[in-house]
Parts: sequence; C-alpha cells; structure tokens
Amino acid sequence: MTLVLTADEAGIARAAAILRDGGLVAFGTETVYGLGGDATNAEAVAAIFAAKGRPHFNPLICHYPDAAAAFRHVVADARATTLAAALWPGPLTMVLRRRPDCPVALLAGAGLDTLAVRVPDHPVALALLRAVGRPVAAPSANRSGQVSPTTARHVLDGLEGRIAAVLDSGPCAVGVESTVLDLSGGGAALLRPGGATVEAIEALIGPVGRGIPHVVAQAARRLRSPGLMVSHYAPTLPVRLNARSVAADEALLAFGPPLPGAAVTFQLSTTESLTEAAARLFDGLRQLDGEGLARGLRGIAVMPVPDHDLGLAINDRLQRAAAPRG
Ligand code: TXA
Ligand code: MG
Repeated sequence: MTLVLTADEAGIARAAAILRDGGLVAFGTETVYGLGGDATNAEAVAAIFAAKGRPHFNPLICHYPDAAAAFRHVVADARATTLAAALWPGPLTMVLRRRPDCPVALLAGAGLDTLAVRVPDHPVALALLRAVGRPVAAPSANRSGQVSPTTARHVLDGLEGRIAAVLDSGPCAVGVESTVLDLSGGGAALLRPGGATVEAIEALIGPVGRGIPHVVAQAARRLRSPGLMVSHYAPTLPVRLNARSVAADEALLAFGPPLPGAAVTFQLSTTESLTEAAARLFDGLRQLDGEGLARGLRGIAVMPVPDHDLGLAINDRLQRAAAPRG
C-alpha cells in the first residue's frame, strides 16, 4: 500500500522520516514528480531502480534545498555559481565533478565521477529537502518507459504498492523535466533540453554546445551520456564474467557463497539479494580494482548474477565493465 500524504507540515515531516529511514517517497517539483530516496543510502538508491523497473543504472539527479548544500558535494566553478544565483531554485540540473568526500552513494551517479545536482523551485519540495537534511536522489516517478507524472494520481497509476508514499502537492507547473547541462569538462554542453531555456543559460555563461549540426550534437551527447557507451567506467583490471572457479592471482566479486581460493573477495550479497548487490556493485568494482592493482593481481572474476529484476541492470553494467577496451 502506498500512503498518500497531504502536503502540510505533518505530511512533510512524515515523508522526511520515511526518506531518512531508507524508504521511497514520490514528491512534486515544479517540473514533474520525482521518485525520491536518500541519495547517501545505496540500498535506498537501488530500491529506486527496482521500483522503476529500469533496465539500466542511469545516473540520477540529486536534489538539494539550496546551492550551498549542493556545492558541498560537487565542485562549482564560476559558471556554476553564476547559473545557480540566477536560475536556482529552478528547472536546471548541473552535472559537476563530485568532491572526494561526497557522501552520495556511487550507485546514485551510476559509478561516475560526476553528479547531477539541482534545487527544485517548489515550496513543498524545498521544505521536504530541508527536513530530510540529506540529498534526495529522484528520477521522474514513472515506471521505466512510461511518461513522466505531473500529478500524484499519475504517480499512483504507475507505482502504487511499489513505493512507501506519495506527497501530494498538486499538479506540477512546468510539466517537462529540468534542463540537464554538463559543466564537468571545459565547455558547457546541453545533455537534455528542459524547463530552463538554453537562451537564458547562454545569456549568463556564453555559448552552450548543442545541435549544429544535429548529428554532431547527438554524437557528443552519446559520448558524454553514460549508459550509452559499450565500455564505460571499466575497472583498470580485466573483468571475467560468470566465473565458476577463481585463481589465486584473481580478485573475486562474489554473489552468494563465495568461490574458494581468490586473493581477495568482495561480497555483493551473502543472501543473494539483488537490491543489496546493486547497492554494493560500484563500490565492489572500485575496491577490487584498487586492491588488485596494488597487489599485482591478474584480474577480477565475477560470479554469475541471475538475469532478472535488478540483476538485468547489474549484468548490463558488468558486461560493460568486461567489454573489450578501445
Ligand atoms: O525535472 C527533473 O529533472 C526530474 C525531477 C524529479 O527533478 N527528474 C528527472 O530525472 O527527470 P531522470 O532520472 O528522469 O533524468 C535524469 C537525467 C538523465 O537524462 C540522466 O542521464 C542525466 O539526467 N544525468 C544524471 N546524472 C548525470 C551525470 N552524472 N552525467 C550525465 N548525465 C546525467
Ligand atoms: Mg525520466
């Protein structure tokens, strides 16, 4: 059963408590309803992907109550602070580099070194974010492949019974998602057009890379858009999938009872929980890569992970990690 919470003080407090406890709450923003979870809690983030039925671990947007809170977790340059001062709160998402001490779960950013951050322009959303006191990761609150919801009713149509609650703050004013702008490299690049116009952005920071000609922009977007490349974020060490045995000079990414004999083992989930495994996947790959390199190991062997539910997304990522390097 999904609770429908009224967007008053009590409803907001209840929604914040559920989020702090690791539960999922859909909430309205000025653009669309988001499917929120505590971004610092990897299991809550994994539960977001499970609830959406997403085939991939797409990186999620982290929502903050103000720019100061956001910029404690990512590195803001002059362009970012200028845009934040003029357009936040508002329908602009900025992709920036994570700070080394950023507490956001790696899964929320799909293992990337960058993080998408935004301050929504909605009094209820802002009150909720202040009450939670942690960044809230939130993709649009629809099942994968369905259109983005702009009312609590739409949210329930897709997610009833799959999330703890929806905080009903009425229909969304903007109705299209936020503009996603990549500022993590040298030039600014539009990754997704949305509620904030490119004209408004360019008036503040100068030219933004986009569609001239269209194919060039698309190619650029593909390059920057994680999830679309075959080999993305692969560990340095070679990755061997579906391991039935492991050598003494290999690291092991285990799922369930570990194969014996590995030099070092990272357990994704002793109980073979796909949600737990998803939550630990990127940490595991990074940790084994680091330790394996330090100890001169030959590669990372990965035990089979069942190909259903979140296992689909886990296997998709593992296949990318194991893909031949260009
Ligand atoms: O208006 C919105 O942005 C809504 C509300 C809830 O805030 N959220 C939303 O989230 O639309 P979602 O997950 O449906 O879309 C996030 C977009 C995706 O296109 C994703 O690829 C991109 O942001 N994105 C997120 N993190 C990124 C990163 N580190 N690098 C590049 N793109 C990123
Ligand atoms: Mg979406």
